[in-house]
Amino acid sequence: MPIGPYQSPLALISDSETDHHHQALPETPAVAQAAAPAGLRLRGIDKRFGDNHVLKGIDLDVPVGQFVAIVGKSGCGKSTLLRLLVGLDEPTGGEISFYGEGGDTIEPNARIVFQEPRLLPWISVADNVAVGLGDGVSRQTGRQEAQRALAAVQLSEKAGDWPSKLSGGQRQRVALARALVSRPGLLALDEPLGALDALTRLGMQELVTDVWRELGFTAVLVTHDVGEAVHLADRVIVLDEGRISLDLEISQSRPRRHGDPVLAELEGKLLDTILGKA
Ligand SMILES: Nc1ncnc2c1ncn2[C@@H]1O[C@H](COP(=O)(O)OP(=O)(O)O)[C@@H](O)[C@H]1O
Ligand SMILES: [Mg+2]
Repeated sequence: MPIGPYQSPLALISDSETDHHHQALPETPAVAQAAAPAGLRLRGIDKRFGDNHVLKGIDLDVPVGQFVAIVGKSGCGKSTLLRLLVGLDEPTGGEISFYGEGGDTIEPNARIVFQEPRLLPWISVADNVAVGLGDGVSRQTGRQEAQRALAAVQLSEKAGDWPSKLSGGQRQRVALARALVSRPGLLALDEPLGALDALTRLGMQELVTDVWRELGFTAVLVTHDVGEAVHLADRVIVLDEGRISLDLEISQSRPRRHGDPVLAELEGKLLDTILGKA
């Protein structure tokens, strides 16, 4: 992607800031409100790229505030489904709608975090986070909200640093803060920890759980790591050849321990389904 001095910073990060589900951010008040978590209702979602029929009539209900993980073989359509959820792409057929706690239809404030943090190297960590608020927010409000989001990801002390000074895990926490700063009702995570080393990843898993519990958004996490899926989610969905082949509830209470035999059992069941042994 060409990076020039006159390009809007938002354009460099993700198209999600301009998608059709979003309303323009009003001046200050919006960010001062609590998130309204968005439930998801998918009916007959189809997605084709030419002859490639990627999603074949997905029906899915995600209750308000649930943490769902989506797993499946590479190329099975996980990222495609996430992009549809946050409005980065349109389904070929079917309906996606969002509802609030009372069951009323709402516009979700949807955000997405990718595997690469996509930070702007020439502005500070705090300004990178404030970019997530979009236009129409005063500099002072932007600063305050960025500080709050950085505190949520335990990076307050890095606010004034350049992104280049941070470790990979810290950069990904900044990307998470940028997604959280506008208080999303739906947070989509596309293999957000996939590029991190094993120990950093475990720490990040706890952080993601903590912010989800604290902020109360609905979370949809795509991961290729079934251990991560059962550790984090209330429910794990397996996608296979464009359809949901398993929808597994993970009712184990939190905090969850790595090596928990109940979770290991569920992990095995998921792997068998993905590998076609079930
Ligand atoms: N923008 C696109 N144009 C054409 N084909 C695409 C596009 N995005 C994804 N695909 C195709 O859709 C299928 C699913 O891709 P993807 O959702 O990225 O899989 P996953 O995230 O599960 O690995 C693949 O065959 C991929 O080539
Ligand atoms: Mg993908």
